Amino acid sequence: MTLQFSLGSIAPETVETPCVVVGVYENGLLTSAAARVDSAAGGAIKRQVESGDITGKGGSTTVLFAPHGVQAKRVLVVGLGAQKTFDGARFQKVNLEAARALSRMPIDSAVSFLAEADVPGHDAAWRARTAALAADYATYRYTATFKPREKGNQPELRSITFAGDEHAQPGLDQAIAIAEGVRFARELANLPPNICNPAYIAEQAVKFADAHEPVSCKVLDHEEMERLKFGSLLAVGRGSANKPKLIVLEYKGAAADEKPYALVGKGITFDTGGISLKPGPGMEEMKFDMGGAAGVLGAFVSAVKLGLKINLVCVVPAVENMPDGDSYRPSDVLTSLSGLTIEVLNTDAEGRLILCDALSYTAQTFQPKVLIDAATLTGACVVALGKYASGLMSKHDDLADELLRAGENTLDRAWRLPLWDDYQVQLESGFADVANIGGKNAGAITAGCFLSRFTEGQRWAHLDIAGTAWDEGRKGLATGRPVPLLAQWLIDRAGGRES
Ligand code: BES
Ligand code: MN
Ligand code: ZN
Repeated sequence: MTLQFSLGSIAPETVETPCVVVGVYENGLLTSAAARVDSAAGGAIKRQVESGDITGKGGSTTVLFAPHGVQAKRVLVVGLGAQKTFDGARFQKVNLEAARALSRMPIDSAVSFLAEADVPGHDAAWRARTAALAADYATYRYTATFKPREKGNQPELRSITFAGDEHAQPGLDQAIAIAEGVRFARELANLPPNICNPAYIAEQAVKFADAHEPVSCKVLDHEEMERLKFGSLLAVGRGSANKPKLIVLEYKGAAADEKPYALVGKGITFDTGGISLKPGPGMEEMKFDMGGAAGVLGAFVSAVKLGLKINLVCVVPAVENMPDGDSYRPSDVLTSLSGLTIEVLNTDAEGRLILCDALSYTAQTFQPKVLIDAATLTGACVVALGKYASGLMSKHDDLADELLRAGENTLDRAWRLPLWDDYQVQLESGFADVANIGGKNAGAITAGCFLSRFTEGQRWAHLDIAGTAWDEGRKGLATGRPVPLLAQWLIDRAGGRES
């Protein structure tokens, strides 16, 4: 369940709540809410600052239980770091840590004054949105496939009230819709691949369409795709008993004749590498190889929940990449939907092979205003940018700037890589129009260059989210990225103010 959020004009020392949250900067500088609580409580916070128990270090948390003089049952004091360098990223971090601390307490609600802290360059709506999204992110739990630990009768955190007025409300409304998209994406991506296979993703899309009046959904099965000549996509799926699906969601929020924006997401429900088999250790993380699909579906959910006045389509090629007697193989030459032939040099470079057909189909069918794809496409992108930035590639500077700005705004950041023609020679083949790999240099870029050959004439951008879609490791969860970036970009296109 999503957390409930509300706004209130309240006093931190008199509000009746299981926990009130206030911030303290480094060197013991109290925010105004902290100062009010402190003086009502006879200096309870300052005493702990003097003793060194509260340092104000960014993201640190200290609980005061039932201090005299304040109505709240608890006071959560959150370190904000140095005031001089306080910025948007720190604001997000302290709100994340505050929500983590709250979710460990036996309480069902809290009141936070953290959204009051001044953040240079951002207004009250931005602060409310960012604080609420951080809180929802921190309190997400994956429970679908194991028995959750018995909590007994202990209450669980259900709602947070932020101190703020009507200026903050639009931000909070956006946060609620974006959080729903992020949760949708995280849940789908976290599911194991024996549950979350191509048919399952298609079912979820149909279910969403059935529940939302302006949304319709069509699913093409492999036979239909054979008739239409999806030769590249189908080759990738041939080794799997879970047959490919192409999921097409349409949302009508504007005039019927207005061209849609289009989102396409890589939906490899499990990537073994195929005949070019991946090594065993870490292969389990390739259940997240449908993170692009989850991301564009989540952004679609957010746009629908916001009722944006745009038309939007979301296309997901959902395919499993398996080794098998019937698998495609290195040196096969495929004829893609576009007619271009592709020499397969590595069956593990499968993402681009399903995306090229999905991109051609989307361009032909919808003639979109803008075409954006998101994909966990290359390990090379992780090497280049790590886990903080998604790789952004586009030949359109204005489109790239819009996307970079949306990412900056939501702290779901991307960094641009070039798509210069110089790199295209790396994809030359002696047997087909193009090879599916480009050698060891610039792997993220050559993957982007491959896709660029199938999007000519389109206003197109590509997001490589291989490093950002999930947290690595045994307990790593899907992050829901790039839902915030894409949702914000769509909000901006719909004429929402860029905050
Ligand atoms: N899904 C992987 C990319 C990936 C790898 C994402 C690691 C996240 C973490 C993709 O299908 C793949 O296997 N790419 C190959 C391409 C290579 C064969 C040119 C890669 O990156 O190694
Ligand atoms: Mn692969
Ligand atoms: Zn893959």
